[in-house]
Amino acid sequence: MPHLLKANSESIKSLMTPAEPIVQLSNIRLTLPSTAGPVNILRGIDLSVQAGESVGIVGPSGSGKSSLLAVLAGLEAPTGGSLNVAGAALNGMSEDALALWRRSHVGIVFQSFHLIPTMTALENVMVPLELAGLQDAAERAGTALTQVGLEKRLTHYPAQLSGGEQQRVALARAVAPRPPLLLADEPTGNLDGRTGQGIVDLLFGEARRLGSTLILITHDPQLAELCDRVLRIEDGVIADMRAGNAANQQAPLRQAAD
Ligand SMILES: Nc1ncnc2c1ncn2[C@@H]1O[C@H](COP(=O)(O)OP(=O)(O)OP(=O)(O)O)[C@@H](O)[C@H]1O
Ligand SMILES: [Mg+2]
Repeated sequence: MPHLLKANSESIKSLMTPAEPIVQLSNIRLTLPSTAGPVNILRGIDLSVQAGESVGIVGPSGSGKSSLLAVLAGLEAPTGGSLNVAGAALNGMSEDALALWRRSHVGIVFQSFHLIPTMTALENVMVPLELAGLQDAAERAGTALTQVGLEKRLTHYPAQLSGGEQQRVALARAVAPRPPLLLADEPTGNLDGRTGQGIVDLLFGEARRLGSTLILITHDPQLAELCDRVLRIEDGVIADMRAGNAANQQAPLRQAAD
């Protein structure tokens, strides 16, 4: 049965071939004008992230972390270098094409939630689903909000929600379109420790459930350690890159001997 053998060897080969990275940045530079002259914000970033990986980004204030996230999301065009993110070569793509790509490929959670104040929780989560033309936007938004524990808050406006609840709406909105890439910029920065911990659990839980890649900016070294890898950015360059403790955390717990 040579054809079966061939099929088997083909599938084994496909298993052995390393997957294309979901993020591939090569010598990314970002220089923006300011009244004091041009600012070199990113100064040659090389980064490759595999699908399903989680990457924590730490670094001093002003080092370029949020700018890097904006570049990854196609919100800011780099002034140099090339980037391929979630199957698209972003260089030279039009604003319209970027917006279309972003809708189905990237979910973003910001420190300050960025909810639309005149829309209910349900309507906020429905926005990207409706933009994607999904007929069942309301049902999917309801499911996403239920997953983050807000099934009793669907008709609340952001002002009627606590900070932690607002961030859960923002998280539901980011994950509802099931994006392959989840970006989070200080998602717990405006929350107290316990509320923040709840968001972190949901964020990692949702990323795992969807099989999404997670890139997480944080000032909290312990939070960054939950990721597979931790990058440190200083003055627009990657100053350090090392493994996080995620592997240890996921290792099966040993049973006490007796
Ligand atoms: N539109 C802009 N024009 C000019 N300079 C900018 C612009 N946006 C950001 N910068 C500068 O770029 C640098 C990096 O900013 P960025 O927001 O990426 O830092 P960050 O690492 O996210 O800091 P933080 O931890 O405080 O959030 C800062 O010095 C900032 O002042
Ligand atoms: Mg920032």
